[in-house]
Amino acid sequence: MTANNSTDQKLDKAVRVAVLGAAGGIGQPLSLTLKMNIHVKELSLYDVSPHVSGVAADLSHIDTPAKVSWHTPDNGGLPAALDGCDFVLVPAGVPRKPGMSRDDLFKINAGICAELASGIAQYCPTATVLVISNPVNSTVPVFAEVFKKNGTFNPRKLFGVTTLDSVRADTFIHEVMPDLNWGLIKVIGGHSGDTIVPLLSTVLGQDIKSLSHMQLHAINHRVQYGGDEIIQAKKGLGSSTLSMAYAAQKFFTTVLSSYLGLTDKNIACTFINTEFDNEALDGVNELKQIVRKLTGRPDLDLKYFAMPCVFGPNGIERVQYECLEHLDSTEVEMVKVCCETLPSNYSKGIDFVRGK
Ligand code: NAD
Ligand code: LMR
Repeated sequence: MTANNSTDQKLDKAVRVAVLGAAGGIGQPLSLTLKMNIHVKELSLYDVSPHVSGVAADLSHIDTPAKVSWHTPDNGGLPAALDGCDFVLVPAGVPRKPGMSRDDLFKINAGICAELASGIAQYCPTATVLVISNPVNSTVPVFAEVFKKNGTFNPRKLFGVTTLDSVRADTFIHEVMPDLNWGLIKVIGGHSGDTIVPLLSTVLGQDIKSLSHMQLHAINHRVQYGGDEIIQAKKGLGSSTLSMAYAAQKFFTTVLSSYLGLTDKNIACTFINTEFDNEALDGVNELKQIVRKLTGRPDLDLKYFAMPCVFGPNGIERVQYECLEHLDSTEVEMVKVCCETLPSNYSKGIDFVRGK
C-alpha cells in the first residue's frame, strides 16, 4: 500500500488517521509510513511538544496524497486532532531507560493514556484504536475503562500493539532456520518479559526437533527481553523506535486492509479485552476455557490476553483459539508463568481508572 508515481491510483477508499505522540521517537517514523500509505487521505499529528509542527511540515513535502495537519494543546488540541478520525495510533508517553521495567512507566503513562482516551471517546468514539504506549498490559485496560465510562467501548476495535514481539520472533528464528517462511510465528499472552509467549512449535512442527533445548530457550528469552537489548544499545537515549514503527505499520496495514475490504482473512496477534463472551468476540469463550485448562486454574479470570485474531471490516471477527490446542510442554509452562503476572498488570490499569 505504498504510493508510487502512477497518476491513476484509485483512492476512493481512504481513511483519516491520527497519531498521538507524533513528535516522538516512534511517532516520527510511524507517521512517515502513514504518509506513504495511499489509503490514508488525512494524517493528523498531535503532540504536547511544539516540535510536531516541524514534523508535519517535513512530511507535507512528500509526494503522496495524505493531507498532513498538526495539533498541540495550543493549536486545536485533541478536538481538532481527533475530529472524524477512523483510526488513532497512540505512541504517546515516556519510554524506558536502562534498569527500568515497563511497569515503572505506568505512573506517568497511565495518566497520559487516560487523557487521550477521554479525547477519543468524545471526538471520534467509533475510531479503531492502536495502543503502543507502555506498559501495554496496563495501558490497554486504561483505554478500555475510559471508553466503558463513556459508553463507547467496542472490544473489536481496541488493540494493544504487540506486533514487535512477532517481528522479533520471526527475525531471531531465521537466524538459525533461514529457509523458514516469514511471518508465521504467533506470540501470545502480554507484552512484557515473561508474559510474552512465543509459539514456536506451532510453526516449526517436527522441525522444532532440529533445535536444541538451549537454542529454543535462547530464542524465547531473546523475544521476551528483546526490548532490553535495544535499551542497553541506546545507552539511556530511549527504547525501540524504528523497529516499533515498522511493527506498528505492519499491524496497521493488516487492520486497515480488513477495514476497507481490500483483502480478507487478515490475521495478526494483538492484546485484546476478553471480558465479553462470544457475542462480542467470536472464540473468546473457547480461549478462556483452554487457558484455564492449561494453567490448571478453573477460576482464572482472564480479562486481557494477546492472541492471533482474524480481522474484518468491523475489527476483530474471531479469536484464533485453536492455536492453543497443540502447545508443547515448554509453551504450556510459559502460558502458566504468563498467567501468574498478567492479571495484576491488567488490574492495575482497570483500578487506575476506577479510582481504587
Ligand atoms: P518518545 O519520548 O520519543 O516520544 C513520546 C512522545 O509522546 C513525545 O513526543 C512526547 O512529547 C509525547 N507525549 C507525551 N505526553 C503526551 C500527551 N499527553 N499527549 C500527546 N503526546 C504526548 O518515546 P517513544 O520512544 O516514541 O516511545 C513512546 C511509548 O511507546 C513509550 O511508552 C514506549 O515504552 C512505548 N513503546 C511500545 C512498544 C510496543 O511494542 N508496544 C515498543 C516501543 C516503545
Ligand atoms: C519493546 O519491546 O522494545 C518496547 O516495549 C520498549 C521497551 O520498553 O522495551
